Amino acid sequence: MSECSIRVMCISDYDAVISLMQQTEGVRIRDADAHDATRRYLERNPGMSFLAEVGGSIVGCAMSGHDGRRGYLQHVLVLPAYRKRGIARRLVSACLKELKRQGIEKVHLDVLEDNAAGQRFWQQLGWQRRTDIVKYSLVLGDSANA
Ligand SMILES: CC(C)(COP(=O)(O)OP(=O)(O)OC[C@H]1O[C@@H](n2cnc3c(N)ncnc32)[C@H](O)[C@@H]1OP(=O)(O)O)[C@@H](O)C(=O)NCCC(=O)NCCS
Repeated sequence: MSECSIRVMCISDYDAVISLMQQTEGVRIRDADAHDATRRYLERNPGMSFLAEVGGSIVGCAMSGHDGRRGYLQHVLVLPAYRKRGIARRLVSACLKELKRQGIEKVHLDVLEDNAAGQRFWQQLGWQRRTDIVKYSLVLGDSANA
């Protein structure tokens, strides 16, 4: 199989990334993943989201950003045919390297409760599952898919 390269994600990659997300179990697509919101996210967090490419096709992605205080990882995924060869590990490390370079010392992420494989992956990478925090969310608009 051809070599995998990691590069920064740009807004022009949007359609390919959404298609990747649509093909991946364990990933929920929300209003916040619309083109405008993704553009805003990438503009606020430039050079912090990455794509994996094999033979010119996008096979994985990892998005990250920070609020000045804490870092956040989202949409870490790799197409099934390309899994278990270290691609997600490389994508996550690219994000963490950039977050660290920007002075961020702690990073959070969410995993769906029923995504057991995703949880095993994060544990394997050394992430700590929190038992001391309960997440609260509030929808500010009237969308059912905010
Ligand atoms: C989770 C996911 C991103 C892993 O991608 P990947 O490219 O196969 O992961 P890697 O090959 O980089 O694996 C890194 C380490 O995690 C381990 N790992 C990966 N998937 C695993 C799984 N399902 N169960 C247990 N360990 C796993 C690997 O064995 C590897 O450990 P090692 O380096 O000690 O051998 C991929 O399976 C995926 O896209 N899943 C669907 C989306 C998802 O659940 N995303 C994460 C939750 S937000």
